Amino acid sequence: RPGWPGIINAYRDRIELPDGARVVTLHEGGTPLVEAEHLSELTGSRVLVKVEGANPTGSFKDRGMTVAMTYALASGIKAVICASTGNTSASAAAYAAKAGLTAAVLVPSGKIALGKMAQAVMHGAKILQIDGNFDDCLELASKTAAEYPVTLVNSVNPVRLIGQKTAAWEICDVLGRAPDFHCLPVGNAGNITAYWRGYQDYAKDGVTASTPRMYGFQAAGSAPLVLGEPVKNPETIATAIRVGSPASWTGAITARDESNGLIAAVTDEQILDAYRLLASREGIFVEPASAASIAGLLATAADGGIPKGSVVVCTVTGHGLKDPDTALLGMAAVEPVPVDPGAVASALELA
Ligand code: F0G
Repeated sequence: RPGWPGIINAYRDRIELPDGARVVTLHEGGTPLVEAEHLSELTGSRVLVKVEGANPTGSFKDRGMTVAMTYALASGIKAVICASTGNTSASAAAYAAKAGLTAAVLVPSGKIALGKMAQAVMHGAKILQIDGNFDDCLELASKTAAEYPVTLVNSVNPVRLIGQKTAAWEICDVLGRAPDFHCLPVGNAGNITAYWRGYQDYAKDGVTASTPRMYGFQAAGSAPLVLGEPVKNPETIATAIRVGSPASWTGAITARDESNGLIAAVTDEQILDAYRLLASREGIFVEPASAASIAGLLATAADGGIPKGSVVVCTVTGHGLKDPDTALLGMAAVEPVPVDPGAVASALELA
C-alpha cells in the first residue's frame, strides 16, 4: 500500500511507546487480504487469506519485532537475543540491523529452513546453532537475558504481542467487520494469543460487533496443546512450528475457550497437500507451517466445524521462499531443452 507507514505509525493511538522513542520500522504490516476463490468453493464459505509472507522479512514476526526493537532501543540496551525456529531470528536480525543493535539468535541445529538462515547471516546476527530443539533454545535465551545485559525479543516479551495484534485490526478494518472464524497455525502460541486480544480490543471499543471463533492448528507430531501436555521430542516437516512446550500455552487455551474455538492437529501429509494446493490453485506460495491453517480449514469444514456461508480468514504466516528445499522435495533432475521452437513445442506437448 503506497505510503503505508508500518504498524506503529498506522495504529499510533493503540500502541503505547516509551517517551521519546525512535520508531524502528521497515514498514511492516498492511499485508494483503486475498479472496481465495478455490478454497471458498471447496468449503462453501467465503475464505480470505491474510498473506503475512508479504512482510519485510517474509513473516508475521515483523509486527512484533518493530515494537520490541523500538522498546529495546529506547531502553539504551546494546543487544537483543532470541530463540527461534527461523522466522523470529530473521526478523530480529533485520530490525536489530536497522536499529544499530546486535542480535544474538539461538536456533536448533540443522532444523531451520535455508532462507531463514540466509537472512540471519546477511543481517549480521550472531548465530548460535544449539544442539537441542526450539524449547531448549528458548530456555537458554531466557536464562541469558535474565542474567546479562541483553533484551529477550521472543514473544514472552509482552510488547511483541501488542505488535502482532495489529493483524487482527487490519483484517477488521479491511473487511468492515470481524470474520466468523479465524484459522491459523500454532507453534509457540504467541500469535493466536495476540490475534484474540486484537479482536477483543475492537469488539470492546465498538469498532466491530462480534469476535471470530479462533481455530488454531498444530502439526500432529508437535501438538502439545491438543494432547494437553508438553511434547519432549516434537517432529514435523513444518519446522517453524516444531515446538513442544509453547510459551503462550495459557494464552492459546484462553483464545480457544473464550472464542468457542478449537485447537486441533493436522498431519504433515495434510500440511503438504494444503501447501501445494495454495500455491497451485490460489497463487500463494507459503512455507509449510503456514499451510497448517489451510489444512485445518479444509479438515474442519469437511467435518462440519465451519457452517457454509461463514466468513473465514486464514492467516498464512510466512513466505514460501523461506524454505526452498521443501518446495523442491522429490523433484527429478530436468533434461535441458535445445534452443529450438520445435523442441519447446514438443516439450510443452503443443504439437
Ligand atoms: N508460522 C510460522 C511461519 C512461524 O514461524 C511460527 C512461529 C508460527 C507459524 C507459529 O506462531 O509461535 O506464535 O504460535 N515461529 C517461531 C519462530 C517459533 O521462532 O520463528 P506462534
